[in-house]
Amino acid sequence: MANINENHLNLKGTYLFVRIAEKVKDYQKAHPDADIIRLGIGDVTLPLAPVIVDAMTKAVQEMGKAETFRGYGPEQGYDFLRQAIVDGDYKPLGINIAMDEVFISDGAKSDVANIQELFSEDNVIAITDPVYPVYLDSNVMGGRTGESVDGIFPKVVYLPTSAENNFSPEFPSERVDIVYLCSPNNPTGTVLSRARLAEWIKWCKDNDAVLMFDSAYEAFISTEDTVHSIYEIEGAREVAIEFRSFSKTAGFTGTRCAYAVIPKEVTAKTKSGERHPLNPMWNRRQATKFNGVPYIVQRGAEAVYTKEGREQTRANIAYYKENARIIKEGLEALGLTVYGGVDAPYIWVKAPNNMNSWDFFDILLEQAQIVSTPGSGFGPHGEGYLRMTSFGTRENTIRAVERIKNIKF
Ligand code: MLT
Repeated sequence: MANINENHLNLKGTYLFVRIAEKVKDYQKAHPDADIIRLGIGDVTLPLAPVIVDAMTKAVQEMGKAETFRGYGPEQGYDFLRQAIVDGDYKPLGINIAMDEVFISDGAKSDVANIQELFSEDNVIAITDPVYPVYLDSNVMGGRTGESVDGIFPKVVYLPTSAENNFSPEFPSERVDIVYLCSPNNPTGTVLSRARLAEWIKWCKDNDAVLMFDSAYEAFISTEDTVHSIYEIEGAREVAIEFRSFSKTAGFTGTRCAYAVIPKEVTAKTKSGERHPLNPMWNRRQATKFNGVPYIVQRGAEAVYTKEGREQTRANIAYYKENARIIKEGLEALGLTVYGGVDAPYIWVKAPNNMNSWDFFDILLEQAQIVSTPGSGFGPHGEGYLRMTSFGTRENTIRAVERIKNIKF
């Protein structure tokens, strides 16, 4: 008889965005004529930039001819894209990343979920609270969390982030082996300062911890002196793994392409104290479990780094940033307390009248037919908040703010 991995039984309910989708489906069924505006999951609405479409079309043509057809590609990604990333994302920042430190994947979600496989089950993880649920759920599956009691996992170190600490968590006071940080942050839409990230790198070095730095929303940064890559911080190459994505940067949520950077200096120990670099371990893991991102998609991602690609994708980011401004300023004008939305596509809204997150979510859905994401779905300190995304169309963004104005809280 096959036994199950019982760690999976420790997962709380359904995955957050699936739960919301089910709730919205039920609402739509009960109200078939409802004109629902979806500002919940961070899914883009603008089409792919023309230069990306052209590159992918050309790649499709190549796949249709015997001379240029390609079968399996390298599991780590084609050199042309790895080099474009090194030259386009890191060299301009004065950062030296070698091509074999870049691993192309089908999404930052997969990478941040899978990376924990390299670590032993007794490692202690620290996550911010609230947090992108994938960091936690993947470690629940990996057996590092224990069973949750009232939604809290006893073996996890939670780092509360809120307006009280300016969304900059304190360092853990207990032993931690792996820290997850996301800046610009999902869900709060806030950023960690360069100075604070430098302190985190020092903390990781002093405590022999590995930092998982999720930088999927880097393209939305506009505040000066905010790091675009963790490797802008001295010493980060020794302790940090960086995750980036084309999903939000270039509208690839449905196209799927991302990458992880694992510098060769990042190591972790065996129980007997022998150090091993994580780069070859990840390389081995990917070669075994992953057959690479389609050639066509990687050619599309490569086009992001051309002059036109930069211009066209930046124009799309500017569009979403303007949506964020409309939501943020619109809600502030109603007297609501709002965070984020400047360096990120997410707006973190305090529920009025001490309402809880799901009640606020229900009011928006029922009274304004707006889908949002309840803050409590991101962790206990998200309770009393709601996340809205700026990835909707301009028209729907404006309509959503107008509808919220008519709600009687
Ligand atoms: C979100 O809404 O938090 C993101 O779109 C989820 C993701 O990127 O997987």
